[in-house]
Amino acid sequence: MTVSKVLDYAQPSLQGSLRIPGDKSISHRSIMFGAIAEGTTTVEGFLQSDDCLSTIDCFSKLGVKISVDGENVSVHSNGMDAWKEPDEILYTGNSGTTTRLMLGILAGSSISSVLIGDESIQKRPMKRVTDPLKLMGASFIGRESGQYTPIAIEGTKLQGITYKMPVASAQVKSAILLAALNAEGETVVIETETSRDHTEKMLQHFGATISVEDKTIRFKGGQTLTGTHVVVPGDISSAAFFLVAGAIVPNSKLTLQNVGLNETRTGILDVLQAMNAKITIQALNNVSHEEIGDITVETSTLKSSVISGDLIPRLIDEIPILALLATQATGKTIIKDAEELKVKETNRIDAVVNELKKLGATISATADGMVIEGPTPLHGGDLKTYGDHRIGMMAAIASLITSSAVTIDNEACIAVSYPNFFEQLATIVK
Ligand code: S3P
Repeated sequence: MTVSKVLDYAQPSLQGSLRIPGDKSISHRSIMFGAIAEGTTTVEGFLQSDDCLSTIDCFSKLGVKISVDGENVSVHSNGMDAWKEPDEILYTGNSGTTTRLMLGILAGSSISSVLIGDESIQKRPMKRVTDPLKLMGASFIGRESGQYTPIAIEGTKLQGITYKMPVASAQVKSAILLAALNAEGETVVIETETSRDHTEKMLQHFGATISVEDKTIRFKGGQTLTGTHVVVPGDISSAAFFLVAGAIVPNSKLTLQNVGLNETRTGILDVLQAMNAKITIQALNNVSHEEIGDITVETSTLKSSVISGDLIPRLIDEIPILALLATQATGKTIIKDAEELKVKETNRIDAVVNELKKLGATISATADGMVIEGPTPLHGGDLKTYGDHRIGMMAAIASLITSSAVTIDNEACIAVSYPNFFEQLATIVK
């Protein structure tokens, strides 16, 4: 059931500190790697969001023992050979990461299974994953030659491949690397642009050897992963909403604690700095092969920027909220090379442009991005989320600077990545 929400903030200022919830990409991987590994894996700071719970649900159906106690999760496995063939369809909900990485994992297992996702997942392209996996010997049956779920997977023996990635996608790269774990020989993945590297880092954390030289990744099959302790950093893609809020809401100063600062994810910080936002980073640390730190942001006088090229994979999920930021910056912000936005939870080029226009923004869609002219005062309106968590949160942050109320049509979709978003927001609105 979808429930709408009215957001009416009378000229707020934002003050205080937030502990940003766990990284979604790393939370998924902690369960997947724990299930593949032999022994017990304990996870601290796990993101208990709808997407990550879909991953837990899939592995529970494979017979992996997983216990969840808030942000602490433990995974007990005797390795993939001990998994049971599921007697139910594996449901991946709204989660692209669950769907695509599971295809890679299950392709080289010894079991048969069927994957299906929600309405959005059923429209998202899977051939980008099933094509390279088929080159490794994988066996799939899915709609339009393995393009869409439901997809049936017959686990089989795989061979290593050399694969040049046609798109910058960590989900595709990770699916291949996870399949490679069970493949004979070496797998080489060559990226055109570097995408998030949590899989490479976590493979090392679980005891595997992987070589990464510039954009070439080499990984030998047949390695055994060993259960370990994983500390999940806060998600910079969730922090992004409050980084932008702190910069655009008058008289604000926010500190966001425990934020993952892996450089394949920090494109948003580069853009904020280029647009003149006042941000400082402190308390740098390293947890489970990942950098973390605290970020402070203050109300800023912003200027426009061009966001393109190899920056795009480093901030792909932050583009909706960066578009809102650009409406408050002087000049023309151009976002290009971001065609991938069309195949996210919804077509995010159309969604962002349509919804920000309703609030009075000067924004237009292009073939591979959008152009935004600012600064523009925004007014209220009735916004659609398209069931997309990041569009919902962008609308909520926009409502902090609109002259009247914003209504969003679906509050629940935000739980896909940030279940306590509104509770945290309430603590900093003054
Ligand atoms: C993710 C990779 C990205 C990102 C998604 C999470 C991951 O998707 O947009 O939210 O965890 O590997 P693509 O691989 O499609 O770029």
